Amino acid sequence: MDVSEQRARIDAITWYHDFDFGNGLKAQTTVDAEFHRQLWRSIEQELDAIDFQGKSVLDIGCWDGYWSFYAERRGARTVLATDDCTQNWAGSAGCLLAKELYGSSVSVNLNLSVYQLASLNQQFDIILFLGVYYHLFDPFYALAQIRHCCHNDTIVLIDGPVALALVPATALFNFADRTCEWLPTLGALEQLLRATYFSIISPDVPDIRPPQPPIKRSKHWWLRTVMEMLKKSRLGILALAHELEPMLPSTLQRRLFLKCAPFVGTNELHYYRPPFGLHKYDSRFCEVSDCHVDKIFFLSDEEFVIAVFKKFLGREPDQVGYKHYLSLIKSGTVRQAVIEAIKNSDEYRLLSSKRKDEQASNLT
Ligand SMILES: C[S@@+](CC[C@H](N)C(=O)[O-])C[C@H]1O[C@@H](n2cnc3c(N)ncnc32)[C@H](O)[C@@H]1O
Repeated sequence: MDVSEQRARIDAITWYHDFDFGNGLKAQTTVDAEFHRQLWRSIEQELDAIDFQGKSVLDIGCWDGYWSFYAERRGARTVLATDDCTQNWAGSAGCLLAKELYGSSVSVNLNLSVYQLASLNQQFDIILFLGVYYHLFDPFYALAQIRHCCHNDTIVLIDGPVALALVPATALFNFADRTCEWLPTLGALEQLLRATYFSIISPDVPDIRPPQPPIKRSKHWWLRTVMEMLKKSRLGILALAHELEPMLPSTLQRRLFLKCAPFVGTNELHYYRPPFGLHKYDSRFCEVSDCHVDKIFFLSDEEFVIAVFKKFLGREPDQVGYKHYLSLIKSGTVRQAVIEAIKNSDEYRLLSSKRKDEQASNLT
């Protein structure tokens, strides 16, 4: 295919990000270009401080894959670019064409909603969750799904706006606003993260919002305001204030870049057993009876396999079993799944029924 044919393919797509594919082939962002370019520069500055070398990366809500290709360029070992392509105006064409033109090895799944991530049954070293949470109708469920894609050392990088003028620790749902369906204060976002077993580990929370233009009030507006003040008309002044409302949201938000880490342990935000499988990160609710989850989950992969064998099978692991379960964990299987697999083994079943028989004979 020659360059002009390639250019025609690029031009047939409505792009969200800017791309330079070489050979003079460029794609350009189409919406609010200046705002977005400044935002992406700020995000890139933050990402530049992260070590991607040799890491497995999950990019959630990747759109045309801009940050996935960035992670690949930065030396990531594997990158999985995901999106629910029904949730943006350009669908999947951009990401697939960009992958082709870059000759990229990024894996792409654009039919995977954030709400389905646990079905991957995979854990990642770095998770990118950039520009997505404020579009979600159910951010708590989404973060629970993300939590299931984490191992002990995963870092989750989150970008999005927070409200400055709401009551502390509250959030605003406005499904009618398709540019921001959910807007939390920083306090509410912190709570949501904690409730899904994440801690914010950024030393500070940088505001990466591009500089905002000041609100412009015309001379005419000022004049009418003075008149209403002279008339002492509260209603008149309120009406004039309402005229400014469309300009307010951007000034009443800041844009955050957060670095988060998963934790395991007692979570004071959950008095009762948390939903969506989150209980397995909490020592009080872990299903595996008397499994000291905070201890067992903090062990190294090797120690974990040995501990699980001892706990459930009452013995040291044999070489084959040890290698098998260790390689499952190293290739991304969650530890809970290993516990379940061992509990489903014939050996465990036999042991359990023997224990039950013993208990029954002790009672008779
Ligand atoms: C503002 S764009 C952000 C794109 C890119 N991550 C970035 O930071 O430039 C929001 C993205 O979130 C995706 N999105 C919205 N709802 C989603 C969902 N439920 N699951 C996965 N992705 C979703 C959209 O399809 C879109 O690609």
